[in-house]
Amino acid sequence: MGTVHVLGSINMDLVARVSRFPRPGETLAGADFRMLPGGKGLNQAVAASRAGAATAMRGAVGVDPNGATLRQFLQQEKIAVEGVVVLDGVATGTALILVDDAGENCIVVVPGANAHVSHGPSVPAFERGDILVAPFEVPDAAILPAFTEAKSRGVFTILNPAPARNCVPTILDQTDLLVLNETELSFFSGDGLVAESNRSRLLSSVEALARRHRADVVATLGAAGLVASLSGELYDHPARDVEAVDTTAAGDTFVGSLAARLATGHPLADCLTFAIDAASICVGRPGAGPSIPNLSEILALG
Ligand code: RIB
Repeated sequence: MGTVHVLGSINMDLVARVSRFPRPGETLAGADFRMLPGGKGLNQAVAASRAGAATAMRGAVGVDPNGATLRQFLQQEKIAVEGVVVLDGVATGTALILVDDAGENCIVVVPGANAHVSHGPSVPAFERGDILVAPFEVPDAAILPAFTEAKSRGVFTILNPAPARNCVPTILDQTDLLVLNETELSFFSGDGLVAESNRSRLLSSVEALARRHRADVVATLGAAGLVASLSGELYDHPARDVEAVDTTAAGDTFVGSLAARLATGHPLADCLTFAIDAASICVGRPGAGPSIPNLSEILALG
């Protein structure tokens, strides 16, 4: 079984529940406030570990109480933290999150230490059969050398370009699997499609993206399921019918659990339904890190 390495952001999420999102200049009373472990990288590592994979985190926190709490949380989750550096002079990343009654969220991320993540010696070292996952909340200058080293060592690379932004194009050349949501699909394909768009147009879009980057592509579409192009084959899966309590980290849960299933030797196409099941459990519970399911919960749905 390979190790899942996650190179990504580590944030303290400050989460308030609101009946609806405020308009510019408006002050609203929130219903609930919590500080919870988050960051796309941390969430994906937690999802991979809970789904049964040996998992190692690479990233950065500051010398502050949030940084210490988050490192400790990762360790409690059985995630190796030797690759998480503690940086002086910068704060640990923070995310301000509003969740409304429909379970939708608005997020502002203040990157702090995440913006200073760099590529250092790989701890633990990459080995053939491992998986490297990177979301986009850390600099390209860290992702590109990590992907290049990973590829040279026979490691499978998964890029989750979230949130969507331009990147050094060579990162995509080093990517085996691109996992993106509808907004990111629209950004990278330029097709302007949304989750509700005509299904055959969505399938053509992932197929074109896969051909352009010579990579497998999975586009997650929330309640509309997913479309994918894997080794030239097209896949179209519905979502599970669940009531959304909080969609925060659903995409991260999908990516992390998919990576874990791959690392335990399952064919990529078979990992899609496993990851859909994991994400569907996540949206039915509040918070990011705390809402991510473990292996027995995921398998119980199958
Ligand atoms: O994907 C959800 C995550 O995005 C949150 O945990 C927040 O920290 C932001 O990085």
